[in-house]
Amino acid sequence: MTTLEKPQLYRDLARQLEALIAGEPDPIANAANTAALVFHRLPNLNWAGFYFRTGAELVLGPFQGKPACVRIPIGKGVCGTAAAKGATILVPDVQNFPGHIACDPESRSELVVPLIEDGRVLGVLDLDSPLPARFDELDRDGCEQLVALLLVHHRKYPRGKL
Ligand code: SME
Repeated sequence: MTTLEKPQLYRDLARQLEALIAGEPDPIANAANTAALVFHRLPNLNWAGFYFRTGAELVLGPFQGKPACVRIPIGKGVCGTAAAKGATILVPDVQNFPGHIACDPESRSELVVPLIEDGRVLGVLDLDSPLPARFDELDRDGCEQLVALLLVHHRKYPRGKL
């Protein structure tokens, strides 16, 4: 995919996500459809989904892909590190990320975007790919925008996990 096509793809995804979640208050249903949309529309992924923060841990939420680790301590792995820092982490080669948690040995690169509301980390969106360096700054921007859409939507329905 060229750098011209990628922004267009993320614009389409954002429009589709808005349509999917419009009027729907249930956070699990909306997270599930977000994971499915991302997994099926972005090429070369082997996993896409959410972990939600419960105390000092991240707990597996809606996802697409193979079964995954259920609990990740905040500060551990790529997901736990993104949650601890409250910042997106892009890992071109997971084998070079100390403490990477290998749920699927086929995963080679990873993008983790935290879900932040009023300074609190509610969870993360995690994307894995079997290709090294699958994700770039355009993916980071695009996924951060999708997460922002979801969070803005759920401010209208202040209950549940998001
Ligand atoms: N690799 C992640 C764990 C989650 S799975 O990839 C679904 C990590 O190091 O946090």
